[in-house]
Amino acid sequence: MTITKEDELARLKDIGRIVANTMQAMAAAMEPGMTTRELDAIGRAVLERAGAASAPEAVYAFPGATCISVNEEIAHGIPGDRILRDGDLVNIDVSASKDGYFADTGATFRMGQVRPVLDRLCRDGKRAMQIGIAQVGHDKPLAGIGQAIGQFASKRGYTLIRNLASHGTGRALHEAPEEVPTWPTRGDRRRMHRGMVLTVEPFLSTGGLWAESGEDDWTLYSEPSAPVVQYEHTVVATDRGPIIVTLPG
Ligand code: CO
Ligand code: CO
Repeated sequence: MTITKEDELARLKDIGRIVANTMQAMAAAMEPGMTTRELDAIGRAVLERAGAASAPEAVYAFPGATCISVNEEIAHGIPGDRILRDGDLVNIDVSASKDGYFADTGATFRMGQVRPVLDRLCRDGKRAMQIGIAQVGHDKPLAGIGQAIGQFASKRGYTLIRNLASHGTGRALHEAPEEVPTWPTRGDRRRMHRGMVLTVEPFLSTGGLWAESGEDDWTLYSEPSAPVVQYEHTVVATDRGPIIVTLPG
């Protein structure tokens, strides 16, 4: 969507805060021995208390309130019997709507102590997102996001998953601009404009190049197989750069 009024921004920030708080509550509740279904139930309760509805469930009939992807699962993991263990990478992605406004956030969390290479990947994954967000603003090229993230990734020896793009959001979970790449591309002439709402969500990896769906038709895995992290905010492009709306509070 394109924000034109203060009131629209306030509503977007409201659902942005709700999805951020939901994700943080889930991350804080994570402990070894817990199933991803139990973790999802915590998220669902926070959303319901705030008067919000899970977007993947409502829009795509996803079998869960939130997407929880562990280790080799990189996105759209279905909450279920899987037990969380020390050393796991756990990606939690929360998108929801309230009063017709949608926001989308995600992050990869470390369960207890993880291998140093995964620690570094998590820190750099968050930096990759921040570098992408810094490219958001009125009249800036959409391709600038992937350009900046790509430069950072290759300088640090990482790969990017190249078929999981960022996207417009706000009045629907996914809307224009569609397919905003977080990797370098050529020939994309699109520009951001004042008030444009979009996500920035690079998938940074130590070798993964694309995502492939598994047998349940939801869960995505890296090809070739390698650790992957994802960090996501919903942002608004303005004359003075980005406004991040998915902040806890
Ligand atoms: Co998301
Ligand atoms: Co998204």
